[in-house]
Amino acid sequence: MHEQLLQMFEARPDEFLSGEELSMTLNCSRTAIWKHIERLRQEGYEFEAVSRKGYRLVGKPARLDIPSLLSRLQTKSFGKTIRYFDEVDSTQIVARELVAKGAEEGTLVIAEQQTSGRGRLGRKWHSPKGKGIWMSILLKPRIPLQFTPQLTLLVAVALCRSLRQTTGLQIGIKWPNDLLIEGKKISGILLESSAEDENLQFVVAGIGIGVNLKQEDYPDDELRAKATSLAIAAGREWNREDILCQFLQELESLYTLYHEQGFGPIKLLWEALSVSLQRSIRLQTPKGVSEGFAVGLHDSGAITVRLPDGSLTNWYSGDIQFATPDA
Ligand code: BTN
Repeated sequence: MHEQLLQMFEARPDEFLSGEELSMTLNCSRTAIWKHIERLRQEGYEFEAVSRKGYRLVGKPARLDIPSLLSRLQTKSFGKTIRYFDEVDSTQIVARELVAKGAEEGTLVIAEQQTSGRGRLGRKWHSPKGKGIWMSILLKPRIPLQFTPQLTLLVAVALCRSLRQTTGLQIGIKWPNDLLIEGKKISGILLESSAEDENLQFVVAGIGIGVNLKQEDYPDDELRAKATSLAIAAGREWNREDILCQFLQELESLYTLYHEQGFGPIKLLWEALSVSLQRSIRLQTPKGVSEGFAVGLHDSGAITVRLPDGSLTNWYSGDIQFATPDA
């Protein structure tokens, strides 16, 4: 029914189709037609509705142009194999299935929409159709298992640098790996790894970027208050292929640098882009809220904090809050 409705509009572009005609042809009520149109709107289709004339299809969801991306991409392996989907549950799940079938390092899984996008700490990740970049990249790093958190920071640096270059927006990194614009989140990173006998087998780096979401694309006010997109921040839409191309190139070059020179250079870049350091921060722990002053990044990926009694400690995971607003 959904498909048939869409076919009717696509067969007669630029024409208004009346509710009466649609409901007669599809043998259903006008309310049912209205509900399907609303669902199509949520999927990114745009309709003009005029009383006594009906509905006209005026826009379709954006689709990534993968051949154009591949023709511009100047990497050795990152993104050279792309598995592109209209809809998946989660690109993380698809990437893991591909590893099991022998996929190579740098393989990219990308989808226009995720129905079960996942975030850190077991949260859901809202991934509406054609509005963002929802992707997972497969890494097979030659590093000891305990260094895996460094990779998360590396991905955050690559993403922050490439988004700054492409958009010119003042984007910062909130420990450990959220990207913020004016205090709101535009991107999140989720690393999932697999190890055997203390040896790292592979890492699936999942990245979500809110690119062209509008305020109405967020499901509720709670998310609208915390999240934003590059389009909302800049007041214009962005070409997703440009963003992807820049990111993959930046990621590959930092990843190469990391294998050649270790974490030192990445740590310096992370600290320079961070909005979490040299300020008072709070961390929610199972025992309550801890507060301290963030002084630096530890090689383990932890944030080093001076506690009120003057002692230094490392916080390894969780979500921090800023005790004072942005400077
Ligand atoms: C976070 O900030 O909590 C991390 C969010 C990571 C979201 C991305 S979107 C692509 C990939 N697939 C998923 O299901 N999650 C990651």
